[in-house]
Amino acid sequence: MCPKKRFCLSIGSSQDHLVFRSHIHSDPAPSRVFRLTISQDISGGEINAMLDIRLEQLEFIGAGKHGEVYKIDEKRCIKIYKARHYLRKELAALQRGADARFFPKVYDWGGDYIIREYAPGIPLNRYLRTERFTKDIARQLVEMVETMRELRFRRADTRLSHVIIDPKGKLWLIDPVNTMKPSPPFPRKLFKGLIRRGVDGEFMEYVRQHYPQAYDRWERHVSRLRERVSSSSQG
Ligand SMILES: Nc1ncnc2c1ncn2[C@@H]1O[C@H](COP(=O)(O)OP(=O)(O)O)[C@@H](O)[C@H]1O
Ligand SMILES: [Mg+2]
Repeated sequence: MCPKKRFCLSIGSSQDHLVFRSHIHSDPAPSRVFRLTISQDISGGEINAMLDIRLEQLEFIGAGKHGEVYKIDEKRCIKIYKARHYLRKELAALQRGADARFFPKVYDWGGDYIIREYAPGIPLNRYLRTERFTKDIARQLVEMVETMRELRFRRADTRLSHVIIDPKGKLWLIDPVNTMKPSPPFPRKLFKGLIRRGVDGEFMEYVRQHYPQAYDRWERHVSRLRERVSSSSQG
């Protein structure tokens, strides 16, 4: 068995301790069958179960510039990439952030795909159209950005559309393909989204109280961005 392909799947919530080992191969195109071999059951016992997943039978959940995403089950999804360099960048980002709880866990990858944790919920830009911006959301957003900065992501930033809020209110950061691109010294994309939703003031107030150093670093950039966004929306 190829050592790279051995991995551990955690199924269920952390309280469930539902863990089994599995091993995935993919057949060459065009049929795209992903073979999931389960070699350890939920209590750790040895089993030898096999599951063939056909791409065309999976639920399509979204597509963007870099690829298409399909849901495998309640815990996992697969992203098929249009180009290998996108996969390499995103895999490197997910590995760099492997200990940060807001990044989906990586279960496996192949030449053009990554199987990762499925983040249930809706993107924050859509959520904030109807729901309140809370201190708990502010806390998780600033923690996300500051954790990425500590982990030396060059772009410690995200669009609101790449933050998913799950039914328990936990935030997930999906699509970190571009997190190593050069970036301004503050989370500009995040602030653009928050300004558009009218909640940038509340967010900055939370940051001022709880992350004063981040506040000092961001403050003048945010003020300038606000001016620019308000003058462009008037024009
Ligand atoms: N881990 C995930 N959990 C749940 N949905 C996801 C996940 N990753 C991606 N998606 C969905 O698939 C869409 C496209 O994925 P994304 O990673 O943004 O692709 P791209 O890099 O091509 O923009 C997302 O907007 C989101 O709706
Ligand atoms: Mg995307």
